[in-house]
This record gives sequence, C-alpha cells and structure tokens, in this order.
Amino acid sequence: MNPFRIPVPLALAVLTALTACSNVERSRNWGNPEVSGQVLVQQVCSTCHGLDGQSVNTLFPKLAGQTKPYIQGQLEAIQGRDRNSEHTRQFMWGPARFLTNKQIDEIATYFSAQPPMRAGAAGATVAERGKVIYHQGLPAAGVQPCASCHGDAGEGDDVVPRLAGQHTYYLVSRARIAMTKIVAQLSDDDIAAVSAYLQSIGAGGAAPAKLKATGEKVAEVPGVKLPPTPPPFDAQGDAKNCHYSVWTYGWYCGSFVDALVYHLKNQ
Ligand code: HEC
Ligand code: HEC
Repeated sequence: MNPFRIPVPLALAVLTALTACSNVERSRNWGNPEVSGQVLVQQVCSTCHGLDGQSVNTLFPKLAGQTKPYIQGQLEAIQGRDRNSEHTRQFMWGPARFLTNKQIDEIATYFSAQPPMRAGAAGATVAERGKVIYHQGLPAAGVQPCASCHGDAGEGDDVVPRLAGQHTYYLVSRARIAMTKIVAQLSDDDIAAVSAYLQSIGAGGAAPAKLKATGEKVAEVPGVKLPPTPPPFDAQGDAKNCHYSVWTYGWYCGSFVDALVYHLKNQ
C-alpha cells in the first residue's frame, strides 16, 4: 500500500540522500556517536552556554567550572526527561537527547575544567539579607544555610552545583524547582536577594562593594527578562536545516527523517 503513489525506488533514493549527510567533520548530525564531546561543545552547546561556559544571556546557565558530577547528572536527568521544567523542555531536551555516555563524560570534563563562572555586575541590588541567608539560613523559619551544602564560596561539591557567579535570573528561575523544600520558607524577595548575592561572588569580581542594610528588599533583579526565542542554533548559525519539533519540544537541526526516526523510537 503506497497511498502517495511515489515510486518506491525514488522514495528510497530520497531517503538515502537525506540521511547520508552525517560525516564527523560537519557533525551537524547530533546523533553521530563518533563526534567528540568537545566538537559538540563547539558546534552546539557554545551557542547558548558560551565556548568557555561563561554564557552571556541570563536564561542560559553558565557551566564554567561547574562540578563534573553535577553536569553529568543533569545531562542524564535531562536526557531521561526527569528534569522537565518548561525551559528544560524548550531548550535542552533537543540538545541532550542524542548524547552518548562518552560524550556526556567529555562535555562534563570540558566545562568543569574551565576557569570558574565570573561574577556578574553586582549592581546596587545585592542585599545584606542575601548574604545572611546564604551563610546563616533563617534558623527561626527552619531554612538551612545554603553554604552548608553549596560551600562557603558557592563553589559546589560533587553533585551539589557551583552557584557563585551564576546568573541571578537563572538562579531565581531554578530555586523553587531544584530546592523545593529548602527554599519553601523563603519569600520571592529572599530568593532574589540570595541569588543576586551569589551572582556577585563569582570569580574575578570584586566583592560586593557596599552591602545594604539588613532586611532591605531587593527591588529589581538584574536581567530578569525573557530573551526572544533563540535562533536555531546549528554550527555556523545556519538556520536552513533547523526547525522546531513539536514532538520533542526542542529545536532540531538535521534532516526531517532523523527527527521522524527519533520520534518513532521515543514514543
Ligand atoms: C538553545 C540554547 C541551548 C543549547 C544549544 C544548549 N543549552 Fe544547555 N541549557 C539551556 C537552557 C535554557 C538551560 C536551562 C534550562 C532550565 O532552566 O531548566 C540549559 C541547561 C543546561 C544544563 C544544566 C545546568 C545547570 O546549572 O543545571 C547543562 C548541564 C547543559 N544545559 C548542557 C548543555 C550541553 C552539553 C549542550 C550541548 C550538547 C547544551 N546545553 C546546549 C540552553 C541551551
Ligand atoms: C542539603 C543540601 C543543600 C542545601 C542546604 C541547599 N542546596 Fe541548593 N542544591 C543542592 C543540590 C544537591 C542541588 C542539585 C539538585 C539536583 O540535582 O537537581 C542543588 C541545586 C540548587 C540550585 C539549582 C542550580 C542549577 O544550576 O540549576 C539552586 C538555584 C540552589 N540549589 C539554590 C540554593 C539556595 C538558595 C539554598 C539556600 C536557601 C540552597 N540551595 C540550599 C543542595 C542543597
């Protein structure tokens, strides 16, 4: 049964032509397990996370100097779809889905070895309250000090992520998702304060010049603004081979047949 009345040999030839473009050099085919993690970083991940892991856009987390086990664990969770918030689905399910364990290991080794996340402009919004919550918690409300797990300098350890220097916007967006119970007693202002404090203590940044009085509200969080939909992100910024997949909720660069095969396999 061939409802479209396309001659089978012609259909096969077209399919073959479409799927043949998967040599390692071009490496647009993310599904090619021969492509090294480093090449994927250069051609795929760096578009959003930066080549050195110091992403510019505050929606995209910095990965520079992030702990290796954390990066590895998150990529596995994203690939397994255990990490499934809206932004994860929208931006990361696509890039993560074809990664092999070896590629994940190479990528995690690469980013964890980069010089750590640089401090963001501290701005006037860094509040003493954020610093106090980070280091002392709020004992009366049963909030543990963040530093007890994330480290005195926000450096992270093993599967506990580095937070120092991370974008305020990203930290705010993740706090209630990643830290459900621990931050439950914190107000939105408290979370914004601790996140702004964390962004300011990254590498190479001066310590926050002047901390404001205890209890002061953080009026604005720098950079809290959703960026426009990112452009399709294949290697050379070439959009013609990319489209948004409604099946996987992610941008997809490759042939339509690859997308179809992926969809069928993952239903
Ligand atoms: C289109 C932009 C984009 C591309 C391309 C991209 N990412 Fe991401 N990545 C994001 C966004 C946005 C998030 C945050 C998602 C969320 O909020 O859950 C993220 C999150 C992550 C995280 C979790 C970080 C953390 O602190 O929890 C890791 C690890 C990661 N990406 C690795 C990669 C790797 C490896 C690649 C390449 C194979 C890649 N990303 C490609 C946008 C992108
Ligand atoms: C008991 C240990 C512990 C404490 C205390 C703790 N965290 Fe975490 N935090 C973790 C772990 C573990 C993760 C990684 C969770 C995962 O794998 O999804 C994490 C993840 C996060 C993330 C997501 C980072 C990212 O890159 O996506 C943020 C933001 C965060 N914590 C903020 C805080 C803040 C703010 C506090 C203090 C109010 C705090 N944490 C206290 C253990 C802790």
